[in-house]
Amino acid sequence: MTRSLTLHLRERTEPHDCSPCEWFAPPRLQGPAPIGWPHHFDRGAIITTAASLEYAEGYQSEDDHLAAARRRADEVGVVPIGSGAGAALSFLASAIGARSVAEIGTGTGVSGLWLLRGMQSDGVLTSVDLEAEHQRLARETFTAAGHAPQRFRLIAGSGLDVMPRLTDAGYDLVFLDGDKVEYGEYLEQAIRLVRPGGLIAFDNALWHDRVADPSQRDAETVAIREVVQQVANDDRLRSVLLPVGDGLLVAQLQP
Ligand SMILES: C[S@@+](CC[C@H](N)C(=O)[O-])C[C@H]1O[C@@H](n2cnc3c(N)ncnc32)[C@H](O)[C@@H]1O
Repeated sequence: MTRSLTLHLRERTEPHDCSPCEWFAPPRLQGPAPIGWPHHFDRGAIITTAASLEYAEGYQSEDDHLAAARRRADEVGVVPIGSGAGAALSFLASAIGARSVAEIGTGTGVSGLWLLRGMQSDGVLTSVDLEAEHQRLARETFTAAGHAPQRFRLIAGSGLDVMPRLTDAGYDLVFLDGDKVEYGEYLEQAIRLVRPGGLIAFDNALWHDRVADPSQRDAETVAIREVVQQVANDDRLRSVLLPVGDGLLVAQLQP
């Protein structure tokens, strides 16, 4: 069981001082709990066991192409998106009929393959990564899975160098999975890149249970925590923090 689940279960069954809980409450719920709600777990939260999380994670199975991309990731030390979050991305791309998707952090193509499969059949994935070698492996992944070279545009470079060169409002979905410390700057760029009604998604929004733990103050955790808050506070965005995999933060730019 993960640390946060242990924490939730303990706090739900034992009396405790509520003030630290406010810290854990999502941004829009911060502040005193309404009368009659003794602490934030009574705000509609449901306890999910590790077994259920695992069940949900495996709900969409991965085929040999995704397995091969994961093996390539392992070989070069890249941590790809989990299968649950990959399936969620694919679903979102499909639900909005995405034709144009931008991704920061290609890796060896696990998230890219999930995205390509959800997009329209003539859709193009533009994916950026600092490491040319990762992109070589991603190209192998996409090609082996049967996607023609016109379906993906791989750009080697830093996300913050490349994003300003991409077209304003040119993307149906922008997926961010590069350098966690740069998430705040990715958000600014993504809001410019996504079309009205389009989606912005960040992987690792829960960052190995560290985001919800106030004692964790390393640069990556702080940057992710800040972007989660920023998205929640931005009136241009409607958002949801999905607890799939390592957390998928999804926001829609209001039409
Ligand atoms: C977590 S992995 C991406 C995994 C990929 N999305 C997947 O699911 O298969 C992060 C990737 O971001 C790349 N990266 C790190 N810092 C970056 C930056 N500043 N700009 C662009 N890519 C970056 C790394 O080389 C790595 O391939």
